[in-house]
Amino acid sequence: MTRVLISGSGGMLARALQQSFERDFVLAIPREEMDITNLQDTLKTVHDFKPDIILNPAAFTRVDDNELFPEKSFLVNALGAGHMATAARQIGARLVHFSTDYIFDGKRKVPYREGDLPNPLSVYGASKLAGEKLVRKICSEHYIVRTSWLFGYKEGNFINYILQSLREEKFVRAAMDQVGSPTFVSDLAGAVKVLVEEPAYGTYHLTNSGFCSRYQLAREIARYNGCSEKMILPLKMDDLNLKARRPCYTVLDNRCWRDRGFHPLRDYHPALDDFLKR
Ligand SMILES: NC(=O)c1ccc[n+]([C@@H]2O[C@H](COP(=O)([O-])OP(=O)(O)OC[C@H]3O[C@@H](n4cnc5c(N)ncnc54)[C@H](OP(=O)(O)O)[C@@H]3O)[C@@H](O)[C@H]2O)c1
Repeated sequence: MTRVLISGSGGMLARALQQSFERDFVLAIPREEMDITNLQDTLKTVHDFKPDIILNPAAFTRVDDNELFPEKSFLVNALGAGHMATAARQIGARLVHFSTDYIFDGKRKVPYREGDLPNPLSVYGASKLAGEKLVRKICSEHYIVRTSWLFGYKEGNFINYILQSLREEKFVRAAMDQVGSPTFVSDLAGAVKVLVEEPAYGTYHLTNSGFCSRYQLAREIARYNGCSEKMILPLKMDDLNLKARRPCYTVLDNRCWRDRGFHPLRDYHPALDDFLKR
């Protein structure tokens, strides 16, 4: 049986990964039991369990808080990723590390390919990019999976925030000038399960197909829930006065995934339907 270690087990993607690897022998471990910023803890856990595959969705993901705590940002998202890569290399495990569309500056108007030049606008984006670099340098048997706009079962993310606001009959402000591909964690986790079956190491963009603005997405959610689309107010990202700058356009071309012969992930609409139905 394949032995799989999953970091940051309480996280949204980590939970979906636990489901998609449920037929394997999985150790899903919370931050309290394995803090990836602590090299000794990380090495001990990995050496004790001896996984064949390490999945590293653990990250400091609150984008605005990353601006406030840049040291923590680089500790978790960069050094922590490096520790996971060191552990994977020491025991000869394959490592799947997750990264983000926020490594790009969003100034393009066509989908980003894996080889396009990163230029992060935020501390979060910069720390995730540094994490990618460490993983590439330390562990050759790596898959770096860049994804975007995750939705799933976790309070506080964009879709759940809209649902909550609509339930409370509150108006929702959403940016018209931020465009990306919403991605269902269950679809992503299923694709990762397929990916690790092949020694096709490298960097992948992996998102649901299709794209929209945050404003369009919020309207789609309102419509789906039988709420008036007038509850959604359009505005520009700058008007939101967020601490971290976000890239405007981060549609990711899943080119390497397709070139390797893998099936593209479905459009985000049916994925959103599935999520909202549940
Ligand atoms: N969410 C998105 O829209 C999105 C988009 C693109 C890429 N990504 C990437 O996808 C991955 C998963 O994202 P997600 O939304 O599932 O994140 P999430 O729900 O915030 O989960 C992250 C998990 O990591 C844990 N963690 C934080 N610091 C840790 C540490 N030092 N050691 C061990 N665990 C630690 C957190 O635990 P605590 O809660 O206890 O701190 C949390 O359980 C991340 O790498 C993220 O950068 C996410």
